[in-house]
Amino acid sequence: MESFRACVVREQNQEVSYSVENTYPDLLSKGNVIIQTAYSSVNYKDHLAVKAKGGVIRNYPMIPGIDVSGTVVSSNTDAFQVGQEVLVTGFEMGMTHTGGFSEYVQVPEEWIVPLPKGLSLRDAMVIGTAGFTAALSIDALENMGMTKSEQPEILVTGASGGVGSVAIRLLSQSGYAKITALSRKKQEEKLLLSLGAKEVLYPEDVIPEKLKPLGKQRFQYVLDTVGGNVASALIPQIFYGGSISMCGNAGGIKMETTVLPFILRGVNILGIDSVNYPIEKRSRIWERFANEWHIMDSLCTHEIGLDELGKTFSAIEQGTHVGRAIVKIK
Ligand SMILES: NC(=O)c1ccc[n+]([C@@H]2O[C@H](COP(=O)([O-])OP(=O)(O)OC[C@H]3O[C@@H](n4cnc5c(N)ncnc54)[C@H](OP(=O)(O)O)[C@@H]3O)[C@@H](O)[C@H]2O)c1
Repeated sequence: MESFRACVVREQNQEVSYSVENTYPDLLSKGNVIIQTAYSSVNYKDHLAVKAKGGVIRNYPMIPGIDVSGTVVSSNTDAFQVGQEVLVTGFEMGMTHTGGFSEYVQVPEEWIVPLPKGLSLRDAMVIGTAGFTAALSIDALENMGMTKSEQPEILVTGASGGVGSVAIRLLSQSGYAKITALSRKKQEEKLLLSLGAKEVLYPEDVIPEKLKPLGKQRFQYVLDTVGGNVASALIPQIFYGGSISMCGNAGGIKMETTVLPFILRGVNILGIDSVNYPIEKRSRIWERFANEWHIMDSLCTHEIGLDELGKTFSAIEQGTHVGRAIVKIK
């Protein structure tokens, strides 16, 4: 392998900058499998990675990108063969280990999922960490009793974002009919209804001027991607015995609550982590995307190249980004 293109983030005098440049294999973190990247995708965490004090990258220079799909070009393990199509999401990718915004990725075999039959390399990145996290959130809510036979009221927050938009589509495709989308973007109402929401609410519809420990019970299940004041406002509005899955902090990391929703209504908070989700359990989720959830053609996606990463990071920062950005590398 000679030089190859990658997005490289550097820190100098506490200033963080990034550029797409020709770089060399020495920059790649260690691993026993080398993947030639086909696609990556942009997640919320990737936009934090290129910010000063973003809290994602631990050592510079670093290639960001928490997701990758591609073909194995070198392997010293029998577990993966040269020519095999694979994907990696999460673990240390794009944090302490060079990630997916690069023509090549070198990773330990323990992070790799074989691409399931029925999914293309592009499909895998249409889903990416965002879709995988949406699936984990739905799994967690179903484990707490959410079932389509009861057609519960379900609210999805950050609805126009990557996790939120895939979650709405997955829930709808799975047969849930009473899905409400919560979004700040009034202009995206049509899109959210087309993904499968029956109704779209806006922050002013659910966030009261003054938080009360308990409010009117409105939703049996909440799939939250926002955290902050949105989650604080919603917990008192969950029905007796209901649950909220929490995966995100786009709206802040601080939450205000009392114990009352938990001790008087038996409300459950379900924490969702896709980053260190055990490798041996990952294929089951990816197989469901390949065989059960046929959502690929109905998601809100757009394709970009490495040179357009900056525009996407800015859109996420400014709160104007919608859906999933797929990065075509080769
Ligand atoms: N735990 C995990 O393993 C895991 C995995 C993936 C993602 N995440 C987290 O989940 C969240 C969503 O990720 P994503 O990739 O879907 O990001 P994204 O595509 O940028 O979507 C985030 C959405 O949240 C809403 N939002 C953003 N800033 C907000 C604010 N200040 N107040 C209220 N709403 C806000 C927006 O939706 P509307 O404009 O429609 O309201 C936005 O589209 C992020 O916090 C990310 O770090 C966690």
